[in-house]
Amino acid sequence: MEHEDYYAMQEKYIAPVYGSRGLTIVKGEGVYLYDSEGKKYIDCFSNIGVNILGHNVKEINEAVYSQMQTLTNLHGSFTNDKRSLCAKKLIEHAPGKLSKVFFCNSGTESIEAAIKFSKLATGKQEIIAAKMGYHGKTLGALSLTKTLKKYNEPYEPLLEHVKHFSYNDAGSLKEIISENTAAVVLEPIQGESGIRVPDMDFFVKVKEICENNGSLLVIDEVQSGMGRTGKIFAIEHFNVDPDILCSAKGIASGIPMGATLITEEVSSKLFNGCHTNTFGGNPMACAASIAVFDTIKKKNLLKNAQEVGDYFISELKKFDSPLIREIRGMGLMIAIDLKTKSTKFAKDLQDNGLIVIPTGSTVLRFLPPIIFSKENVDEAMEIVKKVIK
Ligand SMILES: Cc1ncc(COP(=O)(O)O)c(C=O)c1O
Repeated sequence: MEHEDYYAMQEKYIAPVYGSRGLTIVKGEGVYLYDSEGKKYIDCFSNIGVNILGHNVKEINEAVYSQMQTLTNLHGSFTNDKRSLCAKKLIEHAPGKLSKVFFCNSGTESIEAAIKFSKLATGKQEIIAAKMGYHGKTLGALSLTKTLKKYNEPYEPLLEHVKHFSYNDAGSLKEIISENTAAVVLEPIQGESGIRVPDMDFFVKVKEICENNGSLLVIDEVQSGMGRTGKIFAIEHFNVDPDILCSAKGIASGIPMGATLITEEVSSKLFNGCHTNTFGGNPMACAASIAVFDTIKKKNLLKNAQEVGDYFISELKKFDSPLIREIRGMGLMIAIDLKTKSTKFAKDLQDNGLIVIPTGSTVLRFLPPIIFSKENVDEAMEIVKKVIK
């Protein structure tokens, strides 16, 4: 069967909630994807950051396959070797005083847990997030998300007691925060709104404002975490300790998993049944996540993300096209902001063998796997130069 056949089946049987990229992808290998006709694409998409180690990764495959043959799922009321080891691994790599893990299956679920835990820990109800921030689409997380109106408006009213301030403007947070604020929820680098890297002192100011109001700082590392920016968690670049940290996407490099990391102080306010999740912390996902951490270390991938990311950004900056407004990014989280709409260029790049993510109206977002090499950058740059003249 060909792309058209699979597409027709998709149209018939799958809920119409995604725009179509016009390709049937059937295989992935390293930093490459292959379509149903055998055409090869450089993957600067990684399923929006999920396949952090690329595709068909020996270490992940072995860990998952071996765990599948042992035990796939186990409810949280029983102890499991892989779950305990995975939690220990996460905490060993977590910044500041984060000391315990709540396991779930996705980014939006990790945010739901963070919202509930913040309310429990502080006894307050109000949550503040940033304009142009993205935290997921379940109703709680969606109340914090503020990117496209079409995401929120049909479902309003959403959560009560939610306010938004301008990202990278601590002064505007100070104006709206109060002693009723349970938490301020922020991405270290805004991803969905086009890779917005804040000033280096932004988070230090935010943390101080939170402390002055008895509010928690929740950091959403769903897209920026797991080595993408050259540190396991991007917030490490900004010298602040979060009270809660949300992770997902790359945490198990393709196996569904989410995690909400909390401090001892937050943990002390939780109780049996306050929030649970049937699949959360299943041994298969935990085995994959342990393999992700071990592989990042074994292959020195934090350094790679930093060095190859710097190289990618500098090559993009050297490329002087009148169509480009700005190049932004940190590590392998990179954006080309165009002076014109980006959708057509994303399509042209794809037709030429490079998959990126059109974001907002003018941005092309690059989230390649962190195994990306300088040679891969050169290969991608050749296509970029050809398409964005
Ligand atoms: C920063 C951030 N938070 C939360 C989410 C939601 O994650 P998921 O789609 O796994 O629910 C995303 C997804 O793009 C994200 O980028």
